[in-house]
Amino acid sequence: MAIVSLREVLQDAMVKRYAVGSFNAADHSMAEAILEVSEERNVPVILSVAEVHFRYLNLERFIPYLRQRIETMATPVVLHLDHGLSLDTIVQGLDLGFSSVMIDASSLPYEENVALTSKVVELARGFGASVEAELGHVGGGEGNLTDGTEADPSMFTDPKQAAAFVRATGVDALAVAIGTVHGPYKGEPQLDLDLLKEICSLVDVPLVLHGGSGLSRGHFQSAIANGITKINYFTEGSLAAVEEVRRVLATGTPIGYPDLIGVAKRRVKEIISEQIEIFGTGKP
Ligand code: 13P
Repeated sequence: MAIVSLREVLQDAMVKRYAVGSFNAADHSMAEAILEVSEERNVPVILSVAEVHFRYLNLERFIPYLRQRIETMATPVVLHLDHGLSLDTIVQGLDLGFSSVMIDASSLPYEENVALTSKVVELARGFGASVEAELGHVGGGEGNLTDGTEADPSMFTDPKQAAAFVRATGVDALAVAIGTVHGPYKGEPQLDLDLLKEICSLVDVPLVLHGGSGLSRGHFQSAIANGITKINYFTEGSLAAVEEVRRVLATGTPIGYPDLIGVAKRRVKEIISEQIEIFGTGKP
């Protein structure tokens, strides 16, 4: 199966009401964990590399390697640039071979978000890549592991503006702010499902939920039932891997570095696999 874009995997998800997981990789073992689960469960997956993680990677070698690896696979995989913050990053990502890009101009005023996103759509078309954008703003940060964040309703997505945004830009998928945050939550997450329903009734492209970590099975199921087809998920898998490494080290059993990486990777795989089951990915 060739590497695919969001258009190919999210169409089926929209029709059959499930979500495809978008999991972040910041190194080789995380990427392998994501791809191996896709192969073992025989489901599509979105392997995301976020701009904030570029500093951990040699991108010029890593992305071509991933493309080659994915081309040997039987399952559809989207190689997605997550939270690209500038046109330069998007151009770099498209040149390197991402099959999908997210331009995150959600901190800019509406008109500037429209202008930058439209430019990215025009560029990406030349590469056959899909484009995700964000309207409203999902707060928090994946690097912030100490303080949780509370969602700010004043940043939630406006449904009519979302419909106008999609028409004006031609994006393939839209990330919405409906109560989630990146990284840990302060208090109980509350999703505004009425808002999500209204956005879904006015917007005809797939909707994306960022900040999946910390949400319950029930949150995911109601988000999917009301129109979410792509779910971004990272922090919980990363923290669970660290916890597992701590647990193994605390036993005092001698262990070398390669096996320790294996311990972390196995835990990441378990977490990803559980999420894929909850998202109902690839259901017939
Ligand atoms: P979490 O790290 O909170 O799961 O969010 C991931 C995300 O939205 C990546 O774009």
